[in-house]
Amino acid sequence: MAKTKRIGALAEFKASGQKFACLTSYDQQTAAIFDEAGIDVLLVGDSAADNALGYSTTLPITVDEIIPFGRAVAGAVKQALVVVDMPFGSYEVSPQQALENAIKIMKATGAAAVKLEGGTRSAAAIAAIVEAGIPVMGHIGFTPQSVHALGGFKVQGRGDSAADLAADAIAVQEAGAFAVVLELVPAELATEITKQLAIPTIGIGAGNGTDGQILVWTDFAGIAPGKPRRFVRQYANLRDVLLTGAANYVSDVRSGAFPNSEESFAD
Ligand code: KIV
Repeated sequence: MAKTKRIGALAEFKASGQKFACLTSYDQQTAAIFDEAGIDVLLVGDSAADNALGYSTTLPITVDEIIPFGRAVAGAVKQALVVVDMPFGSYEVSPQQALENAIKIMKATGAAAVKLEGGTRSAAAIAAIVEAGIPVMGHIGFTPQSVHALGGFKVQGRGDSAADLAADAIAVQEAGAFAVVLELVPAELATEITKQLAIPTIGIGAGNGTDGQILVWTDFAGIAPGKPRRFVRQYANLRDVLLTGAANYVSDVRSGAFPNSEESFAD
């Protein structure tokens, strides 16, 4: 059996100065493809809510809903580190609640770590989970579960709020997180935080000074409809590929061209 990466692999990347690549994944097939391509971390993001479950934000997804995605991804990888997001409402009430849900996710999915949002405000929850032996990835800057409080998808840490964001990064590290996602953060600030922290940083919309990068796979693969956001680079246009394929299939079925005799069984 091939060995999957441990959290120490990310620390080694940071120490050696080699950047690492992360993607979200919510299913067995994409997980196996991304794993084979050498993606270092697969995040079973709560973005499954608005990419797989049909919700319009990440807020509604529950622990019970994210678990099957986590199990599918963790079961499909040979080398990637699999991290599962803790859904909104599963860790904010108390460190005890956070620990109970982290244990539930780890037991049910086979993932290597959990991720949760928030800096200083989530430090006690992170510490409780880490003390129980579960690796935690932090997530600061724009935190999608707080989209309403933050007033929409906005860059965080500009101007006077830069110091608060840097303090959040330190709080996450001191609580014991092994890595931290910086989302929608000015590139210079993200670079500065990356230099200050001993743990690896993972950027999304945070410039190229972080230790690793992450993208939501439906954005990176061009599946999501509409204009991609500024920080997204589309590495494929799967929406067009699937649209054309599906339209050709409809046409072949209607015309009787599919299936042909080679695609059918003889007596
Ligand atoms: O859920 C998610 O996809 C995430 C990434 C944006 C980092 O948290």
